[in-house]
Amino acid sequence: MSTPCSAAMLVVLVGIAAMGMVVPPVEGGRAFFVFGDSLVDNGNNNYLLTTARADSPPYGIDSPDHRPSGRFSNGYNIPDLISQAIGEESTLAYFNPELKGEKLLVGANFASAGIGILNDTGFQFANIIRIHKQLRLFREYQRRVSALIGEEQTQTLVNKALVLVTLGGNDFVNNYFLTPITLRRLQYNLHDYSRLLVSEYKSILLELYNSGARRVLVTGTGPIGCVPAEVALRGVNGQCAVEPQRAAAIYNPLLTEMLAGLNQEIGSNVFIAAKAFEKQYDFINNPKAFGFTTSKRACCGQGPYNGIGLCIATSNLCKNRDEYAFWDAFHPTEKANRYIVRAIMEGSEAYMAPMNLSTIMELDSRV
Ligand SMILES: *[C@@H]1O[C@H](CO)[C@@H](O)[C@H](O)[C@H]1NC(C)=O
Ligand SMILES: *[C@@H]1O[C@H](CO)[C@@H](O)[C@H](O)[C@H]1NC(C)=O
Repeated sequence: MSTPCSAAMLVVLVGIAAMGMVVPPVEGGRAFFVFGDSLVDNGNNNYLLTTARADSPPYGIDSPDHRPSGRFSNGYNIPDLISQAIGEESTLAYFNPELKGEKLLVGANFASAGIGILNDTGFQFANIIRIHKQLRLFREYQRRVSALIGEEQTQTLVNKALVLVTLGGNDFVNNYFLTPITLRRLQYNLHDYSRLLVSEYKSILLELYNSGARRVLVTGTGPIGCVPAEVALRGVNGQCAVEPQRAAAIYNPLLTEMLAGLNQEIGSNVFIAAKAFEKQYDFINNPKAFGFTTSKRACCGQGPYNGIGLCIATSNLCKNRDEYAFWDAFHPTEKANRYIVRAIMEGSEAYMAPMNLSTIMELDSRV
């Protein structure tokens, strides 16, 4: 046994570990994790072979560098604006090669356009990161961060993080209502389908909880029958499409109820119903009150209400994006996203249950 040698080796090892150590986030810093679909994708689909992508102009036309990034917006999307509201930089897409080292401590965005609660949602987009895969990548993320700052610190980082989950819209528009006859429609009426979605969602959220998430904003759907695509395809005389509207009216209250029940089971307000897409009803009922000239017509697209097909370089493109509630056939403009995030931050109980994000930030800063 040569003790001096082991001691020297130990010193060297500790030295190497210290050099490789990343400084834990500064006080007040809070990691942010994002899961879900195109409403919150920060560019993961750029790295996949899929048709669900926003990496060519005019996407990103109003972003700081005026270039497409994979966000389904003319500028910032909802996660960007939440990051800004809580004083953090935007989280990078998990597949972005720049997401390494200290950047990992800011959090990560696992969202992928086209996905839903159900595994069969978005099958037409082929290669997308379905929610169970997103959860697997979250565990992989935690292993990578553990190698940097240790397991205990990683656990703390994840427990203290803010999490956003946005799912469900595609289970209706890109599954149940995709074509006049779909398998899901033959299997389920709207009530039973909504119950199926909410029950699957519950197990997804429990898995997230078991992976360490302790503050999770869960968004409901907006008025899915009023997005330009649905108005163009199914609306009569420019009215919102009736059945998708009925779907939202059935599904959203079930979701809120499930979240409240989950919190009760856990014994803590882990899950926050972010009914912020309800803001879109306000835009639709009174666009002028928000400075929009229209909430029906997309800024970018073609056909009736610019609601048909994708937003591409040859599409109609409006001049002033701030006058439109919808950027493309499905997604809000940056301006609309700002109102939605304001509702998340400061909204009354009509928008945030049991509390808004300012209250959460205030509560969590005390522990
Ligand atoms: C969806 O797929 C995952 C595997 O990726 C599986 O674990 C899960 O049970 C599936 N869900 C349903 C409802 O089939
Ligand atoms: C946000 O929540 C807090 C506490 O519940 C409340 O005092 C505040 O009024 C809310 N903001 C708005 C705009 O309702």
